[in-house]
Amino acid sequence: MARREIELRVNGRSLRGSAEPRTTLADFLRDELGLTGTHLGCEHGVCGACTILLDGRSVRSCLLFALQAQGSELRTVEGLADPDGPLHPIQEAFSEHHGLQCGFCTPGFLMSVCELLADDPDPGEQEIRAYLSGNLCRCTGYQNIVAAVQAAAGKLREAGAGGPGGSRVAPRGTGGPGG
Ligand code: FES
Ligand code: FES
Repeated sequence: MARREIELRVNGRSLRGSAEPRTTLADFLRDELGLTGTHLGCEHGVCGACTILLDGRSVRSCLLFALQAQGSELRTVEGLADPDGPLHPIQEAFSEHHGLQCGFCTPGFLMSVCELLADDPDPGEQEIRAYLSGNLCRCTGYQNIVAAVQAAAGKLREAGAGGPGGSRVAPRGTGGPGG
């Protein structure tokens, strides 16, 4: 099948690639752009491992065609921290509170948490559990993930993120100067 050109922005960078019309966004990110931090578990919209942000909202990249992201602004787990820089506060909190074991589900959780904390910088436990109900983890039992999200929220509030426009909630390269 003929390949089509796709142009989009990923983690603040303008990128271009090509894909067949049936190629999923997840496969495009991983195979065409080399962004393998986005994981594929079920590949049919159940597990949330493939969660990324598309124009600021979380989506399951296994359920979208790459062509549907034409011209969009994407955020993937690779955009959270600079390769040689410190972890993003959400990543730090997951590490400190043992919010991961095997780590397979973690990129999807991190991106969902980005959206949650942009929407509500001080979420309660039930809100966290509800927001993350579309992300499955076979290892942790979720309690440590909830604790990590609460800790991440605290870190971000302390850092003065303060709300949807908060600079530290946003992954690296979300459109600010130099982003
Ligand atoms: S791989 Fe996309 S939801 Fe499971
Ligand atoms: S840490 Fe293993 S699936 Fe979540």
